[in-house]
Amino acid sequence: MKDILQELQDRRDVARLGGGQRRIDSQHARGKLTARERIELLLDEDSFEEFDMFKAHRCTDFGMENQKPAGDGVVTGWGTINGRMVYVFSQDFTVFGGSLSETHAEKICKIQDMAIQNGAPIIGINDSGGARIQEGVASLAGYAEVFQRNIMASGVVPQISLIMGPCAGGAVYSPAMTDFIFMVKDTSYMFVTGPDVVKTVTNEVVTAEELGGASTHTKKSSVADGAFENDVEALAEVRRLVDFLPLNNREKPPVRPFFDEPGRVEESLDTLIPENPNTPYDMKELIHKVADEGDFYEIQEDYAKNIITGFIRLEGQTVGVVANQPMILAGCLDIDSSRKAARFVRFCDCFEIPILTLVDVPGFLPGTSQEYGGVIKHGAKLLFAYGEATVPKVTVITRKAYGGAYDVMASKHLRGDFNYAWPTAEIAVMGAKGATEIIHRADLGDADKIAAHTKDYEDRFANPFVAAEKGFIDEVIQPRSTRRRVSRAFASLRNKKLENPWKKHDNIPL
Ligand code: HXC
Repeated sequence: MKDILQELQDRRDVARLGGGQRRIDSQHARGKLTARERIELLLDEDSFEEFDMFKAHRCTDFGMENQKPAGDGVVTGWGTINGRMVYVFSQDFTVFGGSLSETHAEKICKIQDMAIQNGAPIIGINDSGGARIQEGVASLAGYAEVFQRNIMASGVVPQISLIMGPCAGGAVYSPAMTDFIFMVKDTSYMFVTGPDVVKTVTNEVVTAEELGGASTHTKKSSVADGAFENDVEALAEVRRLVDFLPLNNREKPPVRPFFDEPGRVEESLDTLIPENPNTPYDMKELIHKVADEGDFYEIQEDYAKNIITGFIRLEGQTVGVVANQPMILAGCLDIDSSRKAARFVRFCDCFEIPILTLVDVPGFLPGTSQEYGGVIKHGAKLLFAYGEATVPKVTVITRKAYGGAYDVMASKHLRGDFNYAWPTAEIAVMGAKGATEIIHRADLGDADKIAAHTKDYEDRFANPFVAAEKGFIDEVIQPRSTRRRVSRAFASLRNKKLENPWKKHDNIPL
């Protein structure tokens, strides 16, 4: 008996060493943690339960039958984050470069199936050289099995990807189908074809970092939702994110203890809006002042900064925030900001997270690059996402809400539950100057007349009261009491029930 117990221990010790000490040292030398160290930091202490520690590949080509490391390059299992269950897989770069074999894929699929069945998030830590070259099509089949499960899990359980090393070729499509992708600066990259292929096909010379590093994907492509300095920070931030999310689409997000008075009055908000309507101000100030303890978890902070997306809590409950940012491009909607916000709104709606929309939008960005880029379809994504969302929706218009963008930004007409405006709100088809120049074109040569018409238009429309008279604004509120009003609004909507007509699925403009 003692021998058997000892054998188990010995086998475990060997399995835990993955590709061996030399390769572990090399992983550390690059500033990267090992697959198991990452799991330890991600999960609560001693909460990890491993599956398939001894699973080995079945390949017999290229001498592979002589190298059968236990676990086959991926560590899988489940554990808890602040006491709440999550499934996890972590690719082990020290074993065949973390490459994906048929059996490696089977291990991932097993935890994906369990996560869907048992209703808990899946966190994937990617650090892999891609398809296991020795296995050929068996490896490709394995990828597709993982992809299929990513699709089935979408909208059922939150899926989070951490990219902590290479992620190239078709391998990128598994993270791409998850809800959030986070990268580590300087040590991770993602691309469909690497620098060598790019050079051969297009003659472009580009480094792996330029082509698919964290900066590229958080600032240019928007593939990634955030980038962190190192593995430790990335894992800590994912723990923080998980705290905002429900375990699955049938549960509400967790309610956390809060130490912030829901009725807290912020007098400084009364002067947030500058005198001059063209002067920007920082919308993040409003978000922080509304949120419990000022805590805001921003998603896609470095991309399309003219719109802000992220999570706060109100009375301890998660709320998704979408807010125009007047500091960037005057807060207009364009292709990038519409896509960014649409995806965020759809995530919130999948997982029963109420949405707070803060509006200061002068309209859609004009120009050929926008039209050629399909701003019509991309803008429609946001409109569609808001219109189909059945979660509680509370909107506050702080200043401009012009034109189609007024409609898009969770207006009453898109089933907004509470639509508030500050007294500084201007709800109109367009700004007074532009409007005057169109409807009083004949007076364009006469500056005095145009000034008078502009003033007239401003008096008529540069306020929230016309919309309030029509019931499109439920109430004009004091800026200082925004937190109280919004918290009470969401509290009143906790039992909201709204269903869309039966359909197989919708056909959102893509
Ligand atoms: C098998 C692999 C491997 C792979 C790396 N290794 N990638 N083994 N299949 N795909 C092994 C190496 O042989 C080496 O083994 C160890 O992992 C570490 O690799 P190194 O090359 O020494 O590391 P490094 O210099 O850091 O380079 C990492 C790398 C490089 C950039 C990932 O290994 C590489 O380019 N690998 C091939 C990538 C690739 O072309 N993959 C297929 C892509 S196509 P030892 O024993 O020396 O430690 C694809 C299709 C998916 O993925 C399709 C899905 C639909």
